[in-house]
Amino acid sequence: MKLGLNQLITPDENGYFGQFGGKIDHPELKKALQEIEDGFHSIQSDENFQKELRELRDNYVGRPSPIYHAKNLSQNGANIYFKREDLNHTGSHKINHCLGEVLLAKKLGKKKVIAETGAGQHGVALATAAALLNLECEIHMGVVDIKKEHPNVSRMRILGAKVVPVSEGAGTLKEAVDSAFSTYLENPQDVMFAIGSVVGPAPYPEMVSYFESIVGHEAKEQFQNQFSGLPNEVVACVGGGSNAMGIFNAFLDDQQVKLVGVEPGGEGIDKPGRHAATITHGKVGLLHGFYCYFIQDEKGEPGAVHSVASGLDYPGVGPQHCYLHDLKRVDYAVADDDECMQAFLTLSRKEGIIPALESSHAIAYALREAKKHDNDYHILVNLSGRGDKDIDYVLEHLELE
Ligand SMILES: Cc1ncc(COP(=O)(O)O)c(C=O)c1O
Repeated sequence: MKLGLNQLITPDENGYFGQFGGKIDHPELKKALQEIEDGFHSIQSDENFQKELRELRDNYVGRPSPIYHAKNLSQNGANIYFKREDLNHTGSHKINHCLGEVLLAKKLGKKKVIAETGAGQHGVALATAAALLNLECEIHMGVVDIKKEHPNVSRMRILGAKVVPVSEGAGTLKEAVDSAFSTYLENPQDVMFAIGSVVGPAPYPEMVSYFESIVGHEAKEQFQNQFSGLPNEVVACVGGGSNAMGIFNAFLDDQQVKLVGVEPGGEGIDKPGRHAATITHGKVGLLHGFYCYFIQDEKGEPGAVHSVASGLDYPGVGPQHCYLHDLKRVDYAVADDDECMQAFLTLSRKEGIIPALESSHAIAYALREAKKHDNDYHILVNLSGRGDKDIDYVLEHLELE
């Protein structure tokens, strides 16, 4: 396993990062995932693939996304900066790995991509990439999230994707993953599972992290050019952990840069079932085919979770995060629902940027942290997505003046 020279952390040959991650045992799925893994390894040195991906990033997504110094938020403490992944086509970082995954599916001769979605951002990004590259797309989404994130459901349908409502259990992200995986198993020959984060068995954590690492590489170079140095802290929200791995990767070797992943504290971390602070409150176990910290009930089954942000209420977290936590290279903090809603409003009203509720967790932490420092301290936040999808929910739940 490698952790060095600003490279990705790569797993060992069995898909493990320390004790986390792993490969699937299921015989048929094992074969299908090995095909994807082999394909993924081959595209890393495939110049045509890389050229096509680069052109799409530049001219379709609109990369590089800018870094913005939020001067209005930086009046009474540290300086806060945003890596503007919300400005990408489709409105979040998810398009970075979706284009990679769909290009790979096409190269492998697949006819269709299938995935889960929570907030709908991964679903929209995948439906977009599939429309562009002419593949069928099927998205599984919990009924609770369908109601909450309905603008994204409409976008997926308009883009030609089939949206499958999942009503089992809590009707949120975990059940959507279960449902998408079991449908995928029916026909892994023609279909590629295009997971939405750095979770699942090998090769997904490494592969999604690879496609997302463009965020950190750009951010590091831009920050050095614009502000002549490195930030003191880099902050990102953590659901499964893809936007966080995307920005952290490039800074892993810069030990002077503090890296902070912000987990959803929901209604309070003292309330079992009402938060999704996986790393800070989970136990190690096997979830969806990979070992990670996950929230468990008394029987060791995935426990109930909650977050105001649909994209964060998953009981598990990517294996790289678990590993980086144990290595003490990344700190994991918590922001709760109320703090997140306030941060959503603060960014909207002070900087004219409406953030996704997921990203608002990282903003909430940054606002709290900035007060502890002077203006010679610099905090870079990954603004992972825009909040258009969340405006109805916020209007229903916050009393605006
Ligand atoms: C805008 C945005 N940020 C963050 C996340 C959380 O995912 P991850 O932790 O994989 O970045 C989501 C998930 O839907 C999202 O839509």
